Amino acid sequence: MSTAAETLLQVDDLHAHYGKSHILHGVNLKVARNEVISLLGRNGSGRSTTMKAVMGLVTPTSGRIQLQGRELAGARPYAICRAGIGYVPEEREVFANLTVDENLRMGEQPPVPGAHRWRIEEMFDYFPRLKERRNTKAGSMSGGEQQMLTMCRSLLGNPLVLLIDEPTEGLAPKIVAQVAECIRDMHRKGVSVVLVEQKLAIALKVSTRVCVMGHGRIVFEGTPQELTANEQLVAEWLAV
Ligand SMILES: Nc1ncnc2c1ncn2[C@@H]1O[C@H](COP(=O)(O)OP(=O)(O)O)[C@@H](O)[C@H]1O
Ligand SMILES: [Mg+2]
Repeated sequence: MSTAAETLLQVDDLHAHYGKSHILHGVNLKVARNEVISLLGRNGSGRSTTMKAVMGLVTPTSGRIQLQGRELAGARPYAICRAGIGYVPEEREVFANLTVDENLRMGEQPPVPGAHRWRIEEMFDYFPRLKERRNTKAGSMSGGEQQMLTMCRSLLGNPLVLLIDEPTEGLAPKIVAQVAECIRDMHRKGVSVVLVEQKLAIALKVSTRVCVMGHGRIVFEGTPQELTANEQLVAEWLAV
């Protein structure tokens, strides 16, 4: 098997634009196997755009995105997904007319070599509410339930690396705790996670490493402990 230090995803000098607006100014990011990395930063710092650029949903202007050494910059989103990168967008996206169960089945994809194979029953263990509603049409569920469903559906694609954009936004505290536990279990099962999480306490709890973004760059990278010890950094880049 792989060593702890094996780099799965490597992003080098990534630039991206929306029209003429230059948004990402050279993002560098290395994600090793079994890491949970939080991308922190204020609104507008470029965290979602970084995820979209990695997924090919925003075409990078320049830079490299490699998964296990394979170049993905410029590839189509479905190809990036097939290569082993999963994505849970900020906007929850369910198939409204399909049941919870059917939505979950839509996400199933054979694991790429080295990836954990998840089962639908495990999703129900994390989120008992989804089990209760497994035969309910997804479109009739609450926003929070749809959010859980979107995350579980992406996990059933058995990715090597899962990008999750603000999974706990607007969720009740009990569900936030379930999401945090699910992410911790992804870590235990060897999935590498890149997380955008506005709730600093949650991000610090589930992450092995944190990156702080500011103005389309990574301005700090370190352990959660190193971040909290650096009050000036928190004040400059994270405090609202
Ligand atoms: N579709 C878009 N078109 C134009 N500008 C955008 C678009 N999406 C985001 N932006 C801008 O890009 C910058 C970074 O946004 P984003 O990556 O969403 O930040 P974050 O996720 O860190 O809040 C912001 O200034 C935002 O206004
Ligand atoms: Mg965002």
